[in-house]
Amino acid sequence: MRSSTELIHAGNQVTAGKTPPLTTPIYQTSTFVFDSAAQVQAYQEAREAGYLYSRYENPTVVAVERQVATVDGAEVSVLFSSGQAATTHALLTLLQQGDEVVCSAAIYGGTYHLIADLLPRFGIQGRFVSLEALGDPACVIGPKTRLIWFESPINPTLRCVDVRKVAEACRAAGVTSVADNTFASALNQPVLAMGVDLSMQSATKYLNGHSDVTAGVLSGSRRLLDPIAAARRLMGGVLDPQAAYALGRGLKTMPLRVARHNENAHAVAAALESHPAIACVYYPGLASHPDHATAARQMSGFGGMVTIDVKGGQTAAFRTFDRLRVIKRAASLGGVESICSLPILTSHTGLGDAELAAAGVSRGMIRISIGLEDPEDLIEDLHQALS
Ligand SMILES: Cc1ncc(COP(=O)(O)O)c(C=O)c1O
Repeated sequence: MRSSTELIHAGNQVTAGKTPPLTTPIYQTSTFVFDSAAQVQAYQEAREAGYLYSRYENPTVVAVERQVATVDGAEVSVLFSSGQAATTHALLTLLQQGDEVVCSAAIYGGTYHLIADLLPRFGIQGRFVSLEALGDPACVIGPKTRLIWFESPINPTLRCVDVRKVAEACRAAGVTSVADNTFASALNQPVLAMGVDLSMQSATKYLNGHSDVTAGVLSGSRRLLDPIAAARRLMGGVLDPQAAYALGRGLKTMPLRVARHNENAHAVAAALESHPAIACVYYPGLASHPDHATAARQMSGFGGMVTIDVKGGQTAAFRTFDRLRVIKRAASLGGVESICSLPILTSHTGLGDAELAAAGVSRGMIRISIGLEDPEDLIEDLHQALS
């Protein structure tokens, strides 16, 4: 072969022989090589295992899907290029023209706009109900309802929905229940074991845990996920192998991380509860939280998210926010680094006073994703910022 040909093909045959790699290799390839037409045919007729094209399936992605299924206690997990991609694939596969999706009004903004603004173009209607209404889930199910989409705990007040109650009402009515379990994760709140049909998570958050990957995942039964995985081939929201590798690496330490997020958040919430500059601390692990009883019933850990409502409203909240040194000002959550955001400038931006009040959001709120630093440093940082 000439050197340019050799350059392209040399190295392609390297394998580890009888000493396989300890960690999952990154199969950074868009396609896979077959020996013959007979082999392609055997693959297509499912007589021979293998891979054809990375938009369909990729070994690194498949390996990480198995890891997530283990964490979620799921028959199967399917990865996507973002949490929003996972949500979009689920809704567009499970619903059709004329169907209605019932959704709690307190929901991630991306999910809200997808359901409120985009799905109606395809003849799918969203109906948003209050958290109080969702407390009696059988009553929110109408004749056209095919799916209930909900979150618990919700952003930024960390109010909780009774997960089992929603799951049971859906099952009784033949409606699919989907929980966005991004804030809690299955390690704190195993929603599938509680009867929910499908779990959605932004894997960008606690599953990866290192703020360096954008990914999403759906977990549940093969019956629900096989058609969604088939739709992923067509809609194309697959995860890149490199990102899948980073996600899989993060997943290995998830139980350790989540336990420490829980401990740190509880310590910070408890330390701030009686601070004279704070009107209210929202953390489901505190007895003062309005949904503490529900959280204690359904969560084995209360998560890493804490919201504080600073006395003095927006001016005081902006001042505190700007003075933080260890806790960084950034959107997102679930990483090893503590970060914080102002709901009135992020999730609830542009809302008037009445809408903010309806969502239970105040202008003095700061939402904090508690990381894995020493909790004393986080408490000191907040004390100096509040002083
Ligand atoms: C609760 C919740 N659900 C879904 C998403 C969307 O996930 P992604 O940003 O990975 O698309 C987010 C993102 O912040 C979220 O917080």
